[in-house]
Amino acid sequence: MRSTLLSVLFYGATALAISTADSYAAKEWPIAKAGLLANIGPFGSKSSGAKAGLVIASPSTVNPNYLFTWTRDSALVFKTIIDQFTSGQDRTLRPLIDFYLTAQAKLQQVPNPSGNVTTGGIAEPKFNIDGTAFTEPWGRPQRDGPALRATAIITYANWLLDNSNKTFVTSTLWPVIKLDLDYIMNRWNQSTFDLWEEVSSSSFFTTAVQHRALRQGSILAKRIGQTSAVAGYDTQAGNLVCFLQSYWNPSEGFITSNTGGGRSGKDANSALASIHTFDPTAGCDATTFQPCSDKALSSLKVYVDSFRSIYGINSGIAANAAVATGRYPEDVYFNGNPWYLTTAGVAEQLYDSLIVWERQGSLTITNTSLPFFKQFAPSVKTGTYGLISPTFYVLTSAIKNFADGFLAINAKYTPTNGSLSEQFDRNIGMPLSAQDLTWSYASALTVINARNGITPASWGARGLTVPSGACQSNIGPTLQVAFNVNATTQLGENIYITGNLDVLQNWSPDNALLLNATNYPIWSIALTLPADTVFEYKYIRKFNGVVTWESDPNNAQTTPGSGPYVINDTWR
Ligand SMILES: *[C@@H]1O[C@H](CO)[C@@H](O)[C@H](O)[C@H]1NC(C)=O
Ligand SMILES: *[C@@H]1O[C@H](CO)[C@@H](O)[C@H](O)[C@H]1NC(C)=O
Ligand SMILES: *[C@@H]1O[C@H](CO)[C@@H](O)[C@H](O)[C@H]1NC(C)=O
Ligand SMILES: *[C@@H]1O[C@H](CO)[C@@H](O)[C@H](O)[C@H]1NC(C)=O
Ligand SMILES: *[C@@H]1O[C@H](CO)[C@@H](O)[C@H](O)[C@H]1NC(C)=O
Ligand SMILES: *[C@@H]1O[C@H](CO)[C@@H](O)[C@H](O)[C@H]1NC(C)=O
Ligand SMILES: *[C@@H]1O[C@H](CO)[C@@H](O)[C@H](O)[C@H]1NC(C)=O
Ligand SMILES: *[C@@H]1O[C@H](CO)[C@@H](O)[C@H](O)[C@H]1NC(C)=O
Repeated sequence: MRSTLLSVLFYGATALAISTADSYAAKEWPIAKAGLLANIGPFGSKSSGAKAGLVIASPSTVNPNYLFTWTRDSALVFKTIIDQFTSGQDRTLRPLIDFYLTAQAKLQQVPNPSGNVTTGGIAEPKFNIDGTAFTEPWGRPQRDGPALRATAIITYANWLLDNSNKTFVTSTLWPVIKLDLDYIMNRWNQSTFDLWEEVSSSSFFTTAVQHRALRQGSILAKRIGQTSAVAGYDTQAGNLVCFLQSYWNPSEGFITSNTGGGRSGKDANSALASIHTFDPTAGCDATTFQPCSDKALSSLKVYVDSFRSIYGINSGIAANAAVATGRYPEDVYFNGNPWYLTTAGVAEQLYDSLIVWERQGSLTITNTSLPFFKQFAPSVKTGTYGLISPTFYVLTSAIKNFADGFLAINAKYTPTNGSLSEQFDRNIGMPLSAQDLTWSYASALTVINARNGITPASWGARGLTVPSGACQSNIGPTLQVAFNVNATTQLGENIYITGNLDVLQNWSPDNALLLNATNYPIWSIALTLPADTVFEYKYIRKFNGVVTWESDPNNAQTTPGSGPYVINDTWR
């Protein structure tokens, strides 16, 4: 009796999630597609003023003002468009793709506060929608942008090669792709603002997408005979995949997405990295944290569970059922809320996993992924379960239902007209922050495609291994820089320097570097800095434990391509 009742309840809940997800997928697809296209210049109905091929983040101009074009968001949006075009899902999108290519080639050349095309400007995160530089203070650089852009354009380049258009790839696309890839090759190991634009450190998402871009770039370079680029990309891709492993926290079973900002590191960053580096030919390989890898699934559970008790709208939901998820549990932006694109991202990682398990005809549970699978079958054991085993059926059915539950959450908190904002309120579910967020629409399209079993092209993740030995770092070409500052001090007072580079201790007054007073009142220090790099810094005084900073603005300098280089300053 009891078990019958439970199975009826289970069946009832399952059927509800499936039918909600079915109807959401059918209804939301055309709305999301139209919403996404409305935000792309020059013809988009909500993007007036945007240059051809530029994607606005949202038409919202106040609280928040998102009427700018971000390299990351644009690349993710155009990857969706390019996948739909190259797979034959929508052949009308080609003119828009061509606009994007032209617009990005121009943006790469626009000098901006991160530098110009040779001094770091490639990783400027955002521009005005007329294609000019955005010059106000911002979390810059963001080194995921060039990688995501390269991935989107390479995907299109591969289609052109398959369709007898090598000339365009070699003459027009390769120079654009190469600027992004060379940038990653030379600078991946410098600190970066993360995809949420808040913390300057290392970011799992950034490392993962940089690794992917260099692998794809190497394959493309070979295909079009640009062999001189290959060795450098391969070497740094090896270093990146080595560094990628270091984000894994084995004792707590999750990917520590961010090493800065005093956060737990539980972050949508890792689920988004899995779906944006999904390679359907790579199986459940944990080396690249594929969606169905034991590490990515374990991490997904830890991430999802971190929102169960903190959002009012999640209260009363069973501990193994879908809940609304946000960027990271410590988030305070707009008071910290669930986002449509992160909740969709969880579902997408699960759908990607189901695709792979069904294609390979089996599913493996390791010690690492056991807690994830136990949510759906508490007595399940580690091992490999083939297609015909009841366990395979029980688990995949329950995981499909779990995934559909995340879509059902988004469905529940989407207004009836289907429009997607950035967030929804943690306690009442009302849409919040930027309306018509282009990335929200893109995430709806990719999760619906994944639910329908449609996969993106492979990028070469199959069979990759981590180079043996310790991870090699790479700070690219460097030079000697001498800093001299004329500063009068009292006895016992010392002068230090800190700034926005790792070698300058990332603005840490505690770790700031002591200058020497051999030539007092000139204080001096000689440092090895990355070449061709825009950077900011300040001198600080320390006296009896009290820190005094130079007055604003920050000092800014650009290192040349080779040294030595001397900077003479006066304390101000
Ligand atoms: C970029 O800036 C550097 C340093 O200011 C300068 O030497 C170089 O000519 C600039 N390059 C371009 C393409 O503007
Ligand atoms: C190659 O592709 C480009 C970009 O889509 C297009 O403009 C051009 O007409 C194509 N050339 C041929 C020969 O198909
Ligand atoms: C640079 O690479 C080394 C070695 O892989 C790593 O320990 C370090 O954290 C990296 N730094 C950044 C900012 O990526
Ligand atoms: C999994 O964990 C169990 C219990 O801690 C241990 O006995 C077993 O050896 C582990 N298996 C593997 C393959 O690590
Ligand atoms: C859709 O509905 C929301 C919430 O009611 C509203 O804010 C938004 O303006 C509507 N969008 C359109 C395109 O009508
Ligand atoms: C240091 O600055 C003081 C005050 O501006 C000036 O008088 C002095 O000549 C400077 N010393 C050197 C060595 O430049
Ligand atoms: C102190 O600065 C002077 C002048 O730049 C330099 O010659 C000397 O080597 C420095 N001493 C130390 C200990 O760094
Ligand atoms: C920096 O100051 C030193 C003297 O302290 C002087 O010899 C040198 O020419 C100056 N360099 C520059 C680039 O101004």
